[in-house]
Amino acid sequence: MPRTIFVVGSSSGIGLEIVRLFFLKGWNVVAASRDPSTSEELQGLQAQDPERLLLVALDLTNQDTLAPALDAATRMYSTIDVLLNNAGINVLGAFELLSQEKLRKQLEVNFFGPAQLTRLAIPYLRSSSNESKKQSLIVSIGSGSGHFAIPLFSYYTASKFAFEGLTEALHHELAPQGIVVKNVVPVGGIKGTKFGANNLPEAEPLLVSSFMGQQPDLSGEEPDRRKVLEKYVAEGARTMAKTMTLSDQADGAKSAADVATVVWEAVEAGDERFRYFVGAEGNPFVEARYGGAVGDDEKYMSKTRQFFA
Ligand SMILES: NC(=O)c1ccc[n+]([C@@H]2O[C@H](COP(=O)([O-])OP(=O)(O)OC[C@H]3O[C@@H](n4cnc5c(N)ncnc54)[C@H](OP(=O)(O)O)[C@@H]3O)[C@@H](O)[C@H]2O)c1
Repeated sequence: MPRTIFVVGSSSGIGLEIVRLFFLKGWNVVAASRDPSTSEELQGLQAQDPERLLLVALDLTNQDTLAPALDAATRMYSTIDVLLNNAGINVLGAFELLSQEKLRKQLEVNFFGPAQLTRLAIPYLRSSSNESKKQSLIVSIGSGSGHFAIPLFSYYTASKFAFEGLTEALHHELAPQGIVVKNVVPVGGIKGTKFGANNLPEAEPLLVSSFMGQQPDLSGEEPDRRKVLEKYVAEGARTMAKTMTLSDQADGAKSAADVATVVWEAVEAGDERFRYFVGAEGNPFVEARYGGAVGDDEKYMSKTRQFFA
């Protein structure tokens, strides 16, 4: 009997590669996406073996869509063995110029939505572990931005630190329930995703124009405000140029397929390891923060495990 993985954010990038890999390996895959009917890739995969790939609609900003998506999955496969929290957005821009409304959207998609979905999925994961006598897992796709902070990424960073903290606590809390919580953490830009293009419409407009090398028209602004905005435009261009040295264009950048492979290894490992960095080698911020032992914080994790054992 194949095991079942529920993948959130499956129409592109890392999520799509995870769907592909687990489908290829013979798993039942539930691919959750805001509008599955628009993804030719998902439709094409499903046509190969409709019994093993279920497409469900789920929007993390609409909590009413979460329980029906999980219900559809368990009606089809009776169980969920792995919940894969992958979906994410990045509202990029200077903090002062971004709205509070956009901060709420950032956290809705990257924190509150996946938190509620995780809460709703726990009973299914627990009963799957009880019945199969195997681990059930919650695997999240984190980010280097859950470990270090850079300018213009304040909203995204806040959301990723928050979800990193939540999942680390759940790692300890859910272990006695037979549910292993793991985090796969891509660092730097990942090749083969739509993360840049998907998030451009949400980015702060002055930053977008400075990034595109355009001079925005600030002639309508009163002089003091104009000076402030001109500084943001100049600094934004400079900061983004530096950030791009760590982007998916950088030498050695990992791909969405690389991240999917690490997810596969994490699920198959059968151990308790929590964190898996992907692409952290050579990243200046992760190396400065964690020294030579990038990715190996099991000593730290096992301290808390032993304390509560
Ligand atoms: N790309 C990178 O450089 C990079 C680096 C580090 C970490 N990450 C993390 O990797 C994860 C996957 O991103 P990606 O790089 O694969 O980017 P992507 O190609 O833009 O995929 C992100 C997915 O998130 C889903 N999504 C967006 N808003 C949603 C909503 N309201 N409800 C449900 N799903 C929603 C979209 O799914 P649907 O369109 O299917 O609904 C989309 O397929 C994210 O958590 C991101 O933070 C990415």
